[in-house]
Amino acid sequence: MNSYIAANDAPLKNTGQIKLYSAADFDGMRAASQLTARCLDEVTHMVKPGVTTQEIDEFVYEYGRQNNAVPATLNYRGYPYSSCISLNHVVCHGMPGPKPLRNGDVLNVDITFVLDGWHGDSSRMYIAGQPKRAAERLVDLTYDCLMAGIDAVKPGNRMGAIGAAIQDLAERERCSVVRDFCGHGLGRLFHDAPNVLHYGRTDEGVEMRPGMIFTIEPMINLGKHHVKILKDGWTAVTRDRSLSAQFEHSVGVTEDGCEIFTTSPAGLHKPGLSVPKAA
Ligand code: MF3
Ligand code: CO
Ligand code: CO
Repeated sequence: MNSYIAANDAPLKNTGQIKLYSAADFDGMRAASQLTARCLDEVTHMVKPGVTTQEIDEFVYEYGRQNNAVPATLNYRGYPYSSCISLNHVVCHGMPGPKPLRNGDVLNVDITFVLDGWHGDSSRMYIAGQPKRAAERLVDLTYDCLMAGIDAVKPGNRMGAIGAAIQDLAERERCSVVRDFCGHGLGRLFHDAPNVLHYGRTDEGVEMRPGMIFTIEPMINLGKHHVKILKDGWTAVTRDRSLSAQFEHSVGVTEDGCEIFTTSPAGLHKPGLSVPKAA
């Protein structure tokens, strides 16, 4: 299905049609997304050995509460937390818990705040303490993959251009792209059409049009791309237990390219790599 519909005329559910949003809708997305981005900025200062991921999750909940926002993940399909926190070989949907972070842990924090009905969905990689070289390399590459995908967003291109750009870069560096999870349309819904694949070919997928809003959220593994889900029903890990990284932005297609809604206001795009080490 590749038809488009003005978001205002569309039912508030995923019908498979692609919603096209107005300038006022973009304002709403910008506000929600900037709240998410500011919270991810704050998380930078919390990530260190000894801190538990539960403490980070509680901070996220409280940050939302103080800003009239609710975390979209809380009670979403039974998911019980305000964030997803995925450590080391966890690919995505890691659950916050009581285990303290250890020196060298690499983690993704994924937050979606709902503000005035709009969803701002973004995630970044952080490193507790002293990063290992392989981890830094993967985090850096994964960020570059996200940005390469974003560079492919402009009216007239097909959605496949995003996946092709990401896959090219990841595989050139002998890493792999996770197939089992993808980006998604969003707006007043958390997960909507279209699916945004992080691999593929430039001539695949629907054509991008101004007003489309979706996430790009590539998961890149140092080893093979295969994943499995743990018994908790959520946590996705690499089958070969290799390190996995992910970055996510919410973006909107403009007349001549795209707007990144979830850019870091503090410039902490790669917080795992940009925090000065303690003297
Ligand atoms: N925030 C995730 C995404 O990027 C979705 C998490 S759904 C949850 O789409 F239920 F696991 F929280
Ligand atoms: Co998402
Ligand atoms: Co997310």
